[in-house]
Amino acid sequence: MRLLVTGGAGFIGSHFLRLLLPGPGPGPGPGPGPGAGPGRPGPEEPGGFRVTVLDKLGHGSSGDALRAVERLPGFRFVRGAVEDAALVDRLMPGHDAVVHLAAESHVDRSIEGAVPFAVTSAVGTQVLLDAARRHGVGRFLQVSTDEVYGSVADGAWTEEQPLAPRSPYAAAKAAGDLLALACHVTHGLDVVITRGSNTYGPRQYPEKIIPLFATRLLDGLPVPLYGDGQHVRDWLHVEDHCRGILAALTSGRSGEVYHLGGGCELTNRDLTGRILREYGAGWESVRRHPDRKAHDRRYALDCAKADTELGWRPRIPFARGLRDTLRWYRENRDWWEPLTGAADASRGAGRAAS
Ligand SMILES: NC(=O)c1ccc[n+]([C@@H]2O[C@H](COP(=O)([O-])OP(=O)(O)OC[C@H]3O[C@@H](n4cnc5c(N)ncnc54)[C@H](O)[C@@H]3O)[C@@H](O)[C@H]2O)c1
Repeated sequence: MRLLVTGGAGFIGSHFLRLLLPGPGPGPGPGPGPGAGPGRPGPEEPGGFRVTVLDKLGHGSSGDALRAVERLPGFRFVRGAVEDAALVDRLMPGHDAVVHLAAESHVDRSIEGAVPFAVTSAVGTQVLLDAARRHGVGRFLQVSTDEVYGSVADGAWTEEQPLAPRSPYAAAKAAGDLLALACHVTHGLDVVITRGSNTYGPRQYPEKIIPLFATRLLDGLPVPLYGDGQHVRDWLHVEDHCRGILAALTSGRSGEVYHLGGGCELTNRDLTGRILREYGAGWESVRRHPDRKAHDRRYALDCAKADTELGWRPRIPFARGLRDTLRWYRENRDWWEPLTGAADASRGAGRAAS
């Protein structure tokens, strides 16, 4: 299968590539350069996937996210934006499916300025849908988020829940979902959507709460906790998330939405306590941070449909996944140190949690 993966240089995208193209692991060598151009997919990869990554290497990507796969047969990288219709039109022919992960992904940044979010998740998604349709692509897998539903006090959302996004990030993602579903209904494009919960694991850009807190504590710095810390998130390991995306790609029913949740709800305060314990730090390392505007209180997904139809459920218990992730940050300072410098410079000294 020949896949066009957008956002493959980001956190989830780079793990998804490792799942598709299992290779010998990270090696030396330079990261992908900006000179790569569009063209036909490369030779067939033994595991059955040939992959073209389209990524603008913008915020959220890390220079070496693709290092583990860039030399493998069947892999090709193109630097560019999903909203670039001419580029996407040149790139699309020869692909059997699109896995669309590219997005501006940080809620706080969407509150500071929403235009790049709308451009990527609404305009970019429509550009990809049009090109997929024009060139007879077999399946369009839209990777989305639980945040499109807004906030829920009790119970859990099914896939029938109406969308009620409350942040510009979530609204832009919801726009992409609705455009994808409309393209399915109007034009018959084979669209499947996954909506995942808060995802964590190694190699996540250090502005999301787990890598932010980990890298600050490892630097001996205090960590900022939003508001009363009682916001509830469901945590999903990135490898489980990627297995769910692949299951939906290969086994999902056309026009359907599938929830991918981790089955581990925690308040941000509970999560903070666990991270502090793992690094041997105390609550004196925590600073109260004024709450995010319109901060959603709780997200919760009912994932029975993915279990029944895709045979998917999360495998990695949060306690193990968190411990391994925090160990990874402890042992891979070379990976994150250049990024925390960049994050501090662009956000000011007090990096805020997501
Ligand atoms: N991280 C989570 O907790 C989570 C949970 C559920 C769903 N998701 C969704 O999964 C997808 C990936 O999230 P992530 O956490 O890996 O994000 P990320 O920020 O780590 O990666 C996003 C990637 O998209 C690229 N990108 C952004 N705008 C682009 C554009 N206009 N053209 C081309 N490339 C562009 C960036 O360069 C980056 O490499 C997103 O669609 C996000 O909404 C994320």
